[in-house]
Amino acid sequence: MNIIYHPSSKIFHLYNDSISYLMIILRNGHLGQLYFGKRIRDKEDFSYLLETCERPMTSCIYEDDKSFSLEHIRQEYPVFGTTDYRQPAVEILQENGSRISDFKYCSFCVTAGKPALNGLPATYTENDDEALTLCITLKDEVTSVHAELLYTIFAKGGILARSVRLFNNGTQPVHLRRAMSLCLDLPDCNYVWQQLSGCWARECHIHTRSLAPGIQAIGSMRGNSSHEHNPFLALKRPAADEHQGEAIGLSLIYSGCYRIQAETDAHDTVRLLAGIDPFTFDWKLDCKESFQTPEAVLVYTDRGLNHLSQTFHKLYQKRLARGYWRDRPRPILNNNWEATYFDFTEDRLIEIAAKAKECGVELFVLDDGWFGARNNDKAGLGDWKPNKDRLPNGITGLANRIEALGMKFGLWFEPEMTNKDSDFYRQRPDWILSAPQRTTSHGRNQYVLDFSRTEVVDAIYEQMASLFKEAKISYVKWDMNRSITECYSSAWPSDRQGEIYHRYILGVYDLYDRLTTEFPHILFESCASGGGRFDPGMLYYAPQGWVSDNSDAIERLKIQYGTSMCYPISSMGTHVSVSPNHQVFRCTPLHTRANVAYFGTFGYELDLNKLTAEETEEVKEQIRFMKQYRAILQFGTFYRLKSPFEQNEAAWMTVSADQKTALVGWYRILNCVNDRYTRLHLKGLNPDFLYRNSQTGMCHFGDELMYAGLITSDETAGQVPSDITPYTDFESRIYVLEVIPS
Ligand code: DGJ
Repeated sequence: MNIIYHPSSKIFHLYNDSISYLMIILRNGHLGQLYFGKRIRDKEDFSYLLETCERPMTSCIYEDDKSFSLEHIRQEYPVFGTTDYRQPAVEILQENGSRISDFKYCSFCVTAGKPALNGLPATYTENDDEALTLCITLKDEVTSVHAELLYTIFAKGGILARSVRLFNNGTQPVHLRRAMSLCLDLPDCNYVWQQLSGCWARECHIHTRSLAPGIQAIGSMRGNSSHEHNPFLALKRPAADEHQGEAIGLSLIYSGCYRIQAETDAHDTVRLLAGIDPFTFDWKLDCKESFQTPEAVLVYTDRGLNHLSQTFHKLYQKRLARGYWRDRPRPILNNNWEATYFDFTEDRLIEIAAKAKECGVELFVLDDGWFGARNNDKAGLGDWKPNKDRLPNGITGLANRIEALGMKFGLWFEPEMTNKDSDFYRQRPDWILSAPQRTTSHGRNQYVLDFSRTEVVDAIYEQMASLFKEAKISYVKWDMNRSITECYSSAWPSDRQGEIYHRYILGVYDLYDRLTTEFPHILFESCASGGGRFDPGMLYYAPQGWVSDNSDAIERLKIQYGTSMCYPISSMGTHVSVSPNHQVFRCTPLHTRANVAYFGTFGYELDLNKLTAEETEEVKEQIRFMKQYRAILQFGTFYRLKSPFEQNEAAWMTVSADQKTALVGWYRILNCVNDRYTRLHLKGLNPDFLYRNSQTGMCHFGDELMYAGLITSDETAGQVPSDITPYTDFESRIYVLEVIPS
């Protein structure tokens, strides 16, 4: 890994074993982009990679050089209004009404490691030799606004982390109307764009399209990163697939309103922009103030989408997630939500927990409904005191009883919200986001607290922290069940109202930061009606998140498959729930529900007392199995093998670091009559190792399993011999492959 500056050609070269990133200081002082891709050898001059030519109808900077038009130059942090007609990375509104700026190179410095970003989640290093950071300072002469462009190249993997700090060194305040985290201008548009989109209970479905002229974008203007579009994008070459070919991944470490877009111009170059959504953003930057953008992470690979995902998985698992739980296998939990909803008493919870304990569950989680007047979803949010009718001994009493059973205890919160019917709201009705003289809209009967105000965050912190100090709470599920409307804060002046969306999410990060710092052993799971805020920003504070409110195993195939494009298996909250399922009313076999949930944090979302004796034994076996293999399932190298978006089957696998154990999940959605012969070509095994297949007892070398394949044909398809139980719809198997010691 190295960062080199060549003064003669004014070129920066950042490289490691996998990638190179080249930039040049242009004739006009702006920073140009030359190359991002597979590692190339360093040399003094690459300036010819900047192709310019005289084109008709272009506006040019210099009278004497008609080829120098920013419209046709690939840039690092472009502005609008000075010959470039594409969307800019930054827009600054000045006192005189001008929006034109002109950022020119000033200086650079290189530091070992990676600096933290003030108040924002970001990737980090533990040792200085893990990464190098280049900071390039640009300056707009007229406003004296400085832009510090940060580029961190990690020693391992094709990873480049980027962010920008804007500093007003001038004498007049300015308004940042747009401050993107990243601009990447690519020299051609021969890419397939792949996004993770959907809605509540259908998150992270993979959608693809070829890049076309004009702008294609995803984003959120909801205040949360959203169920609709995850802040992740992959651009892959048309011929690339899961196992080979070039791809670029872009992930934004942010949980609020965002935008990721690609603009393909008339000459087939592509401008990628990622950052805070400009439409909902207007930040007043007073003299001597600075603004830090969120971090955007770029990953390049020439080894296909699986490798792209594995690079993100490793980075986010080890250098984004933090704390006590980062590397620890996650406790198997039983959550009462789908078991009872709001209808429970302390004794009823103990009944559920006792059965869970008998089956081997390690953590009992009490979901919504334990506080204030929360008998339904119309009241109580904000009053984080136990409801004594339901819990006469309070949370402390319940937690003690759960601990006495030999389990840990976890609790649900929705810290950012309040109900009209709550003491919290009655006492402080002005602490919600709402606009003067406008109706305040509802979402799930609740209002959004004004987290742009420190006193609001403080008040919620006090309530949560005092409960954490008083009761034995080992896990917190942090929910968020509505998006923001009427985003206006009575605490801020009119010229700062465009800051509220971002200040809100900074308040959320602040509360997370205080709680995780003060209570480092509590395992936090983020949630926003399932996957409404399943993003890298949350992962920095909560190492796992509830992927979706849809707990149906077959629905989860697509959701988890899509989520795995960017997020590690250890981050995905996955539970076995009842059949018929509560979201799609589908009946699925118990083993399939577990076989899907194993690839995640794993738990149960049902009352185990309601199972038959036979099912209870099956659950005990599932839990025993998960305990045996969870370290590999959650932290192994994950490969997608068959896509549920493309066929009637899905398959994925995970391989231990020493390659001695692999677990393969195979899922068939509908049964087929007289089906084909099917095989899975496994990945990541050691070709020389001899593995025993748990399903057949047969032994195979790794090369055979990878190249000839693992046979998954269904022996009951067609004719059913009387001694075989026929398979049916929603069938699945887990193949455990364990090395035979030689
Ligand atoms: C939405 C969550 O995603 C569910 O799991 C559950 O916690 C409910 N909220 C409770 O209101």
